[in-house]
Amino acid sequence: SGAARPRLTFLGTGYLGATYAICYAELGYEVLGFDVDEAKIAGLAAGVVPFHEPGLDELLRRNIAAGRLRFSTDYQEAAEFGDVHFICVGTPQRGDGMGADLTYVETAVVNLAQHLSRKALIVGKSTVPVGTAEWIEQLVGKHVAPELGVEVAWSPEFLQEGFAVEDVLRPNRIVVGVKSDWANGLLYSAHKGVFDLAATEDREVPLVITDFATAELVKVAANAFLATKISFINAMAEVCEVAGGDVTQLSRAIGYDPRIGNRFLQAGVGFGGGCLPKDIRAFQARAQELGAGEALRFLHEVDLINLRRRTRVLNLAADLLGRRSGPAGPDLSGARIAVLGATFKPNSDDIRDAPSLAVAGLLLKAGADVRVYDPEGMDNAKKASPDLTYEPTLNDAVRDADLVCVLTEWADFRNADPVALGDLVAGKKVIDGRNCLDPALWTQAGWTYRGMGRP
Ligand code: UGA
Repeated sequence: SGAARPRLTFLGTGYLGATYAICYAELGYEVLGFDVDEAKIAGLAAGVVPFHEPGLDELLRRNIAAGRLRFSTDYQEAAEFGDVHFICVGTPQRGDGMGADLTYVETAVVNLAQHLSRKALIVGKSTVPVGTAEWIEQLVGKHVAPELGVEVAWSPEFLQEGFAVEDVLRPNRIVVGVKSDWANGLLYSAHKGVFDLAATEDREVPLVITDFATAELVKVAANAFLATKISFINAMAEVCEVAGGDVTQLSRAIGYDPRIGNRFLQAGVGFGGGCLPKDIRAFQARAQELGAGEALRFLHEVDLINLRRRTRVLNLAADLLGRRSGPAGPDLSGARIAVLGATFKPNSDDIRDAPSLAVAGLLLKAGADVRVYDPEGMDNAKKASPDLTYEPTLNDAVRDADLVCVLTEWADFRNADPVALGDLVAGKKVIDGRNCLDPALWTQAGWTYRGMGRP
């Protein structure tokens, strides 16, 4: 019943926290989203989602209007409001490039704890090094009177950009790390909306109840596995490239074995984004600290394979344009190259660690005149890589190009007409960095086509 439903706060209204706050309001909970960023909170309160995520704007406005969802920059208000406080702040890569920076987590927990005046549950959600939940428990112990009985728990999230609303409302599992029956029961109530929705749709959402360390590890283990799967197929692409095989057919053929599965088995220019690359590095660093560095040494290879895909595009470009490689790499001066895609994947405006932008940077450094276009990521890309040249449309980007590189598999690019584009370019040469084009179609239209790991 509604009465048994705890009130939820989400601290940190970045991508993760805002999505959860909005979706849990949609599930019927009373929700407060908290952030120290006044502008972000003002925007959300006015019904504006500060990032691109399909379906979220509408849910935000609907739930504000329904009175279930509000936003605040006041720790006191958050502390008074919530029965369960989810910590969703960022855990960026540390300055040394490896471990995770927990400054935001610490600030959020300490400030919240100092304002708590009744029993509540603090639940970590951010991706963190294993051991963080125990550390938070100690922090809370230092800042909250023990008689309040404030407890800590862990519940990782698995949402994918572009599918975040679905992933939150209809997750394929819920994982909780708890130490007491009280925490377990309260966290169940805090997720009951998800289980109830599943029941009305004749589905079941598996619930894994475990300890802190396992709950924390589930998240990084899942991302490490996904990254490994992608690098595995990209390693096969490398072998195909020298052996004359076709990795797309190889991937399809091995993917039919359900033990392998065909998802996350697309070879291309590699993985990027705010999670996979950062998480595998932080995971290695943490394992090293714990004395298990050897166990994750393969993740270093996963990273290297992934980064080699970017230089592969550069070398393919030189090859297609008939350029020689000097000791400093290929010289592409005078060549005009269209880079299609700036985001790390389609249906997102996120350009963090995007392979597309990294390749654009390599091409530029090699002397090419690079023209970038992306359907959603231009504003972010211009801020992150101001030295690149951006074009307002797909046609503008490819006009007079000697080479076209498709580096993010947006539908606009997949469905582009090679005949029409052929009339705009200076040279009909295309690198399909995501193996998302039909080689036959492009070849018939007179293009020289190069995919990743394809003959
Ligand atoms: C990833 C995970 O998929 C989520 O489960 C996880 O919750 C999230 O990180 C997180 O830690 O928050 P996301 O970063 O949104 O989600 O992106 P993915 O869809 O996983 O794609 C990552 C990268 O891998 C993209 O650059 C994509 O182009 C690339 N990729 C994906 C491939 O190169 N090949 C594939 O077969 C699949």
